[in-house]
Amino acid sequence: MLIPVVMAGGSGTRLWPLSRALHPKQFLNLYGEHSMLQATIKRLSAIETTAPVTICNEEHRFIVAEQLRAINELGPIILEPEGRNTAPAIALAAEVSQQQHVDSDPLLLVLAADHIIENESAFISAIQKAIPLAEQGKMVTFGIVPNSAHTGYGYIKRGVETENCFSVDSFVEKPDQATAEQYVDSGNYYWNSGMFLFKASRYLQELNQHRPDIAQACTASLKNTAKDLDFIRIDSQAFLACPEDSIDYAVMEKTTEAVVLPLDAGWNDIGAWSALWEVGEKDSNDNVVKGDAILEESHNCLIQGGERLVTTIGLDNIVIVDTKDALLVAAKDKVQDVKNIVSKLKAQK
Ligand code: GDD
Ligand code: MG
Repeated sequence: MLIPVVMAGGSGTRLWPLSRALHPKQFLNLYGEHSMLQATIKRLSAIETTAPVTICNEEHRFIVAEQLRAINELGPIILEPEGRNTAPAIALAAEVSQQQHVDSDPLLLVLAADHIIENESAFISAIQKAIPLAEQGKMVTFGIVPNSAHTGYGYIKRGVETENCFSVDSFVEKPDQATAEQYVDSGNYYWNSGMFLFKASRYLQELNQHRPDIAQACTASLKNTAKDLDFIRIDSQAFLACPEDSIDYAVMEKTTEAVVLPLDAGWNDIGAWSALWEVGEKDSNDNVVKGDAILEESHNCLIQGGERLVTTIGLDNIVIVDTKDALLVAAKDKVQDVKNIVSKLKAQK
């Protein structure tokens, strides 16, 4: 049994002003016809899975339920009072999956709700290759064949080759530019996609071995759960006491059973507006335009229009995002710094 586990707890501050605290990017329709959350599930339609287990902040429960129901994929939704990063989130999902499928040891396909994958069939075939490995007890991570020395991603150094995949030599979280360049030139590194496949029981064993404090806090959080509709409300106090850590640090870096399966499928973590320009359909001047706009002598721009007409003259490499109450105009190579504006806005409140 294959259960998609969808991590949807991010706040997406670098996609401000479209992405807001109450409506972060994973719930937006930024690419294609579905929201990023819906697309995450929809792209699995060629393989047999159960409905997804989704983990999100409790304040997003209705939007998650509504979006999953709209695509007929409503499954359990675990509500966190506050994020504790991905290691605890996945532990909650693993325990809930085991409780719901007591007769089998389900495989968990861990996905982030904010990734774009252009070549869906390449992704599906990677999952199909990963399934037998996970069934043998391997902790499979999908390694993206890098096309640039991106510093917003973690890197995985591959080890020796064994049946369709490689052992993992090491994980390096977000290296500096010079190191990332060396990694990409060497050909021995992949981007850490943040997507994984393993047995629920294996993840919990590894977490118990390497971070028993997190494992115990998550078990305690699920002791007094209240189930209303499809929502699983965990014990707030127990979960707030859980240490925070990512699955990368807490488990994947430490396990001896990690393998990396290369994936070359047009994957992109939509971490900033520039990524949407990268994946978007370009006009003859390499502009990506959404909404009503007239562009004169403008090149390599991203225009995310709102309700008004947007017009530009003589702009290069500029991002414009128009919403009802806020307008962003930024140099495309500076859009990572949108998070600074969000911090300033928060400080003003
Ligand atoms: N439910 C829940 N709770 N989800 C969470 C939490 C949490 O506390 N923290 C993060 N997530 C979700 C985010 O919504 C996102 O979908 C995913 O987990 C990854 O978290 P990010 O915060 O976006 O991590 P990152 O992009 O900085 O880095 C990770 O992902 C990269 C690939 O996208 C690392 O794994 C990197 O090594 C990796 O390259
Ligand atoms: Mg991310």
